[in-house]
Amino acid sequence: MKGKFLMIHSYKGGTGKTALSLYIAKYFADKGKKVLLIDADFQAPSLFSFFPKPGEDTKTFNDYLEAPEHSIFDCIYPSVKEKYDVIFSRPPETGSKVLSTDTQWHRVALARIIHANTELSRRYDLIIYDTGPGLNLMATNILAVAEIAIIVVRPNDYSVMGTLLMLKEIYSSFSQQRKDFVLFNQVPPKFFSIKKKILNNWLNLIKDGYPKAEILEALPYSEHISTTLGVGAYNLPIDVPQFREPFERNMKRLEKLFKL
Ligand SMILES: Nc1ncnc2c1ncn2[C@@H]1O[C@H](COP(=O)(O)OP(=O)(O)O)[C@@H](O)[C@H]1O
Ligand SMILES: [Mg+2]
Repeated sequence: MKGKFLMIHSYKGGTGKTALSLYIAKYFADKGKKVLLIDADFQAPSLFSFFPKPGEDTKTFNDYLEAPEHSIFDCIYPSVKEKYDVIFSRPPETGSKVLSTDTQWHRVALARIIHANTELSRRYDLIIYDTGPGLNLMATNILAVAEIAIIVVRPNDYSVMGTLLMLKEIYSSFSQQRKDFVLFNQVPPKFFSIKKKILNNWLNLIKDGYPKAEILEALPYSEHISTTLGVGAYNLPIDVPQFREPFERNMKRLEKLFKL
């Protein structure tokens, strides 16, 4: 088995990276794939709030990166209900150490991540890294090892401008064969009708600036998703056709491109 690494990223926070990571993990797990979802957002970890509490002996991704005696497999939390595995980050009260860590810490972390990935790719078909926003050192490490990235954008000027800047950085810093996708999320209905031109202008700015990045089909804002996930639900709202249909078309595209 040779698993694929998918990073969910964005320039700004609150674009829907974590929500989409949960949907993507579920989609592929339901298709019978072996999926692992990793919370790599140390500044604002959140995956733990969507699952029942893990046992005391389940280590976090922070534990793995900080202590060489831990194996990445000590961190696996099997979500029986969702049929995929998760690795959590330490909840915020105790997990903020990464903020004060330096470049040397992240250099060691990168070596640990590469080591983990070799082991994980033998066991999983798809490994999803849910990251924090911007080009912090952690996100940069993940960018260096993930072959596919989905960059989530909210439909507003500064989110689009920031994403353009970030794509520029990515393409000038990483020489490896990359496949990046841009995905507009939480798009209000008007941008699909009377304000379609605005959405198209943003899409064209990205297409013209970065023809290498592929644009996925935009996902609408759903009140139901917002209110359900906003309270850390264990049940992912799937009964939202206006979201589910374009989401599934996007996933089919990824499935085909990467032979998932
Ligand atoms: N398509 C959507 N429609 C409505 N709300 C959404 C949608 N996608 C995400 N959200 C909500 O937006 C908020 C931020 O999402 P989250 O996944 O935590 O963002 P991030 O991980 O990028 O910081 C959450 O309350 C989430 O439920
Ligand atoms: Mg998040």
